[in-house]
Amino acid sequence: MQHLLSSQELTREQILHLLVRAEQFLPVVLNRQRLNLAQGKILATLFYEASTRTRFSFEAAMLRLGGEVISNADMEATSSAKKGETLLDTGRMVSSYADIIAMRHPQKGSVLELAKGSSVPVVNAGDGAGDHPTQGLLDLLTIRLEKGRLEHLTIGMIGDLKNGRVPHSQCVYLNHFPNLNFIFVAPQALQMPQDMVDSLKAKGHPVLQTEDLETALPQMDVICQTRIQQERFASEAEYLKYKGVYVLNAEWMKRAKEDAILLHPLPRVDEIALEVDQDPRAKYFLQPVYGVAMRMAILAELLHL
Ligand code: NCD
Repeated sequence: MQHLLSSQELTREQILHLLVRAEQFLPVVLNRQRLNLAQGKILATLFYEASTRTRFSFEAAMLRLGGEVISNADMEATSSAKKGETLLDTGRMVSSYADIIAMRHPQKGSVLELAKGSSVPVVNAGDGAGDHPTQGLLDLLTIRLEKGRLEHLTIGMIGDLKNGRVPHSQCVYLNHFPNLNFIFVAPQALQMPQDMVDSLKAKGHPVLQTEDLETALPQMDVICQTRIQQERFASEAEYLKYKGVYVLNAEWMKRAKEDAILLHPLPRVDEIALEVDQDPRAKYFLQPVYGVAMRMAILAELLHL
C-alpha cells in the first residue's frame, strides 16, 4: 500500500490483514496505552470539511502508536487554500513536514489530487459523497468483532444511501465476502447508486431496494443507520423533504432481531432516538473505539511499521 485513497484499491487479503492488525492494536486502545512503534514519525491531518471523530481518531491512533501530530481542522478558512494554493502544491509542501497525511475534503477526487503532489502516504478521510475508506474498514471490524463473521449475514442500510459516503465504502468492502444479502431502505431519490447495486449483484449478492422499513428491519443481522446528508442537498427545502424519514426508536427496535447489531458512523441528528442508546444491540459508541485500532493498523501499514 502506497496511499489509501479509495476503498476500491484494497484486495480481500489486504482487508483481512488490516482487520487482524487492528484486532492486535485493540488492547492498546482499550487500556489507553502508548506504543513506541511510530517514534519520530509525524502525521499531518488536513481537514477541509467538518469532523469530530475522524480527525481525533486519526490523531489518537498516531499518538497511541508513539508518533506525533500536526493538524489543521479548518483548512478552507485558515490555510493557504484561502490564498488560492492548489491541492497539488499543498501536498508537495506538507510532505516536507510530515511522514504521512490524512485528509478530508468536500469534493470527490480532491484527495487524489493532493496525493499527486505528496511524496509521503496520503489517507482519504472522506471526500465528498464519494468514499470514506477508513470508516468502511472500521465498520467491517465492528461487524467481525460483534457478529463473529463477515459472511452469511443480511446487511441492512437505511437512510441517505445516495449521498452517504459511508454506505458506499461499506458495500465495496463487503462485496469481497460471500453469502451476504443486502437490503437498502431509502426514499427512492436517496437510494444506493445503481453501479454499486450492479457490482454487488455481479458478485452474486441478492439486493433488495425498498422504502418499507417495516418489512425490511426484522430481516437484518446488521443494521447500518445513516444521517440524511444535509450538506449535499441543493436547498434547505429539498433536505426537509427527507429529514426524519426513518427514525429508529425503541418501538422500532422491537421488530429487529434479538441478535442484530445497530451501527451508525455518527454524527446523528434525529435518525436514532436517544432511548436506543441503552439497547445492547446499539454499537455506535463502540465503533469509535474500534476506529482508533483500525486507524493504527492503517497508519502502521502505510508507514511500513
Ligand atoms: C461520516 C462522514 O463524515 O461521512 N461521519 C464520520 O466520519 N464518522 C458520516 C456522516 O457525516 O453522516
